[in-house]
Amino acid sequence: MICLGIESTAHTFGVGIIDDKGKILANVKDSYTTKKGGIHPTEAKNHHIEKADSVIQNALKEAKLELKDIDLISFSQAPGMAPCLVIGMEKAKEIASKIKKPIIGINHCIAHLEIGRELTKCKDPVMLYASGANTQIIAYEGGKYRIFGETLDNGVGNFLDGFARYMGMGFPGGPKIYELSLKGKEFIELPYVVKGMDVSFGGIQTNLKQKYDSGKFSKEDLCFSCQETVFAMLVEVSERAMAHCEKKELLLGGGVACNKRLQEMCIKMCEERDAKCFIPPNSVMVDNGLMIAWEGIIEYKSRGADDIKKLDIKPYERTDDVKVKWR
Ligand code: ATP
Ligand code: FE2
Repeated sequence: MICLGIESTAHTFGVGIIDDKGKILANVKDSYTTKKGGIHPTEAKNHHIEKADSVIQNALKEAKLELKDIDLISFSQAPGMAPCLVIGMEKAKEIASKIKKPIIGINHCIAHLEIGRELTKCKDPVMLYASGANTQIIAYEGGKYRIFGETLDNGVGNFLDGFARYMGMGFPGGPKIYELSLKGKEFIELPYVVKGMDVSFGGIQTNLKQKYDSGKFSKEDLCFSCQETVFAMLVEVSERAMAHCEKKELLLGGGVACNKRLQEMCIKMCEERDAKCFIPPNSVMVDNGLMIAWEGIIEYKSRGADDIKKLDIKPYERTDDVKVKWR
C-alpha cells in the first residue's frame, strides 16, 4: 500500500510518499519564509495555494509514480492555523475524489512522534516535541499519547522567532539565533521558568527585550544565554518526565530539535541517567509530508478511512484527544 501525505498546518506545504513497509519514496516541501517580520496566516495560506500543485507533482516525480499508483491519501487535519489546514484538506479531498481512493485525517503532533519511532527504531520513548507552535513532553500511557508537560504560553520556536524578529531578523529565527549564539562568550542570567513539568517563555521574552533595548549586552551573548536558559528548561522537564514514567528513551521532534546545542544537552542528560537519546533526521523534525503519509498508513490499518463528506479540519485538537488504537 502506498500513501501520499499532505502537510499544511503552518508555514510548510509538504508532500510525502511512503509504502506500508516504511520504504520512503518521496519527501518534498516548500516553506513560506520572510526576510523581516513573522509569519502571517493569510500569506502562508496564499503560499500553499500557489505551491500545492508543484509540490505534489515534484513528490510524484521523486517517487517515480503517477497519481493512479497511490492507494491512500492522508493530510494533516490538526492542530494548526485554520486557513492553512483548509488548503491541505481541499487538495487531499480533490486527489482522493479524482483517483477514488480512501482518505484519512491525521494529527500532526502524533505524526512527528510516530515517524521518529519508525526511523530511529526506539520503542517507548518520552518525546520532547519542540517546534514553533508546540512545546510538549509526550509519552504513551493507557491508550493515549499523554502530555506530561507543556508550555504555558508560547511554543519555544515562536519564542525564538519572536526574539529574532525583535532584533530585526526574519522568519524562521531559530537558526539565526543559533548562528549568533556560537559567537557568544558571556552568560547573562535570565529568568528560568519551570513549573512542575511545564515551562513558560513570556517572562523571559520580556526580560530579553529589555536587555536588548538597554544596549548593554551584545546580540551574540543574548542569543547564547537565551538558548542555554530555555534549552536547560526543556531538558529539565524531559528528564522529570522520563523519571516519572520510568522510561529509558528520549525522542526529539519539532523544528527546534534541529538545534545542535539542544541535541548536545539532551544527549548528555540521557548519558547521565543511563538512557538513550534518539534524534531523527532534520527532514522529519521540521514540518514535512512524509510523517503525515506514514501516520496515514498506521491509522488506516487500525481504524480504516474517514468519510470524505464528513471530514473537516480540527485546528484545536490536542495530542491526548486522539485514541491510539495502533499500539
Ligand atoms: P508545529 O506545527 O509542529 O508546531 P511548526 O509549524 O512550528 O511545527 P517546525 O518546522 O516544526 O514548524 O518548526 C519551526 C520552528 O523551528 C521555527 O520556530 C524555527 O525557528 C525553529 N528552528 C528550525 N531550525 C532551528 C534551529 N536549528 N535551532 C532552533 N530553532 C530552529
Ligand atoms: Fe511540526
